[in-house]
Amino acid sequence: MSKSHRGHTPMLPIVVLISGSGSNLQAIIDAIRDDGLPVEIRAVISNRPDAYGLQRARAANIPAVVVDHTAFDNRSDYEAALQQRIDQYTPAMVVLAGYMRILGAAFVEHYQGRMLNIHPSLLPDFPGLNTHQRAIDAAVAAHGASVHLVTNELDGGPVIIQASVPLLVEDDATTLAKRVQTQEHHIYPLALRWFAEQRLSVKAGEVLFDQQPLNQPVHFNSDTDAT
Ligand code: GAR
Repeated sequence: MSKSHRGHTPMLPIVVLISGSGSNLQAIIDAIRDDGLPVEIRAVISNRPDAYGLQRARAANIPAVVVDHTAFDNRSDYEAALQQRIDQYTPAMVVLAGYMRILGAAFVEHYQGRMLNIHPSLLPDFPGLNTHQRAIDAAVAAHGASVHLVTNELDGGPVIIQASVPLLVEDDATTLAKRVQTQEHHIYPLALRWFAEQRLSVKAGEVLFDQQPLNQPVHFNSDTDAT
């Protein structure tokens, strides 16, 4: 790992996987540029050639790579190619940022303890898709986003940090998604900072925060935790 330009924290090398807009990718790029986030994005890889996030990567001089899942006969061939491509960049962490494909067991196993995902709900509530509409339909008091380690259980790995937003009577899925995404853009860079600073680590599947077992997710409060 190379030294960060600001301090003594080594840069955490990551590869970011996307499928779409890449606003979380952009939040990480911005935090590196503006807040000294000690992270080096070695590549952005998309399974979709038209993902807008690829343009964001190119604009930031980050290698933008397509591994198009439709070009493969089956998932295991696709994931083997994806894994090979990721590993060329020797990342310490693989960061799923709106990557919208379910991953197979061998792939998840290969990155065990070093693959993160951001999910638009307060896990364990609403794993899977359409989380905002489901939260509205369930009339929850609060909704939000979670950063978690990826395991073989869909959206089920240990949660590191969550941020919540209240559900408003006038909310529809679009307005709610927008407020949740604003929170996502805080908590993903923050979780990466903690990994880079080695405040967060994973040992034998257990998440440690400041050397203590993380028994429940950190709850992000933008007024107090914005460092
Ligand atoms: C984000 O809201 C993220 O939480 C969600 O996709 C969006 C991607 O936005 N991820 C999932 O639903 C994963 N199951 P982005 O491309 O603008 O970062």
